[in-house]
Amino acid sequence: MTVKPIKGFSKLSKDAKTEWLIDNYFEQPDKALSLIKSYWHSDANLQKLHDEFIENTLTNYYMPFGVAPNFLINDKMYCLPMAIEESSVVAAMAKSGSYWLERGGFKAKVISTTKIGHVHFVWRGADFNDLQQYFDRVKPLLIKETNDITRNMTARGGGILDIELINKSDLEPNYYQIKGSFDTRDSMGANFINTVLEKWSEIFEQYIGDAAELSPDDRQIEVIMCILSNYTPECLVRAEVSCPVEALTAGTDMDPQTFVDNFVRAVHVAEIEPYRAVTHNKGIMNGVDALIIATGNDFRAIEASVHAYAARNGQYKSLSHVEVENGQFTFYIELPLSLGTVGGITSLHPMVKLSNELLGKPNAQELMQIVAVAGLAQNFSALRSLTTTGIQKGHMKMHLMNILNQFEATLEEKNAIINTFKDRVPSYSLALEEFCKLRGITVEQYTASNN
Ligand code: MEV
Repeated sequence: MTVKPIKGFSKLSKDAKTEWLIDNYFEQPDKALSLIKSYWHSDANLQKLHDEFIENTLTNYYMPFGVAPNFLINDKMYCLPMAIEESSVVAAMAKSGSYWLERGGFKAKVISTTKIGHVHFVWRGADFNDLQQYFDRVKPLLIKETNDITRNMTARGGGILDIELINKSDLEPNYYQIKGSFDTRDSMGANFINTVLEKWSEIFEQYIGDAAELSPDDRQIEVIMCILSNYTPECLVRAEVSCPVEALTAGTDMDPQTFVDNFVRAVHVAEIEPYRAVTHNKGIMNGVDALIIATGNDFRAIEASVHAYAARNGQYKSLSHVEVENGQFTFYIELPLSLGTVGGITSLHPMVKLSNELLGKPNAQELMQIVAVAGLAQNFSALRSLTTTGIQKGHMKMHLMNILNQFEATLEEKNAIINTFKDRVPSYSLALEEFCKLRGITVEQYTASNN
């Protein structure tokens, strides 16, 4: 089907947009239309709220919302809300919560909360010292003239922490920055920082034009852009677990030293081998993102920041680390997490509000600690499985239900097939064999009728 471009799509009504879409892109428009409508919320006001989050909303896109109970963090019990589609992530998280509950729980602390933004600009003057002197003179004005924007944030204990002029002209001709450091308290702060930066660029551009101490040629800047940085290495949180080595395998027949040796080696592999580090960190982000989405935070920003942090020394490495000293096992993580518990959709999305209530209405610093714990817990579970039973045992057990749903198996068929995998690791083809056996057909017959 060749679809003609459409002008003014965003101005059409929701019905008109849907009609255009199903007429142009779907072989069975009625089926597509009824699917789209079946995901509308029955409460029209709630649907309207969702419609207005973004442009061109047609319907909703469900993700499972699950919880992982039994998390003891800094001596307080939490039940973690998780929005994620991957079968085994919540189960792994819950396992880790219970495991560490029996071993003293998680400890977490915020190391720093500074966020950064830049006015990126071009200045064609000859001597950087002239620009620096002018900047030093105008800097108090940058603070004073943004008072209207910063007043509330300052009253809450945040605001502008510092403003610096940075010379980057050795990397890009005539390129300089005004670098702002901010504390945005319980908000993620993107709108606050960007508004301040845009105001600074206006003030700077205007004042430099009148700077008598600069030569006429030096009195001009060209603003490239004003934007916060999603890289937040100074908005950092640490989480850790620790227990005696022999406690690690308590209640199992595993030798604790063998367990710890394999575990430590697995972390070291992720510290030296980027191919493994990416997967290792992906597992950490399974936990982090699920909480970030449930609490209405920006998972793209967090992903970008975390991976840049993992490569901060020039090689992409594990975000978690392990130490064994005097028979004590310590596993820890440091993550750059710029999170908000106010602003954005936090006071709008009903499930985000519910998640925050479930967590005891944390402030941003508490949420940073909970999320870092989620990353560490998820990583611990993955490494524990990888270095003992292998990952597929737990993962495929959870994923089996997705496979059976794909076959459209009945409840009885599901129960019977799950039972056959009590003592062996399921796979797609083994599950299909069992399914076909139950239906009295061959795998070839099933495949032919489903292609
Ligand atoms: C799967 O989503 C995540 C893991 O691959 C993480 C890891 O390998 O550490 C299991």
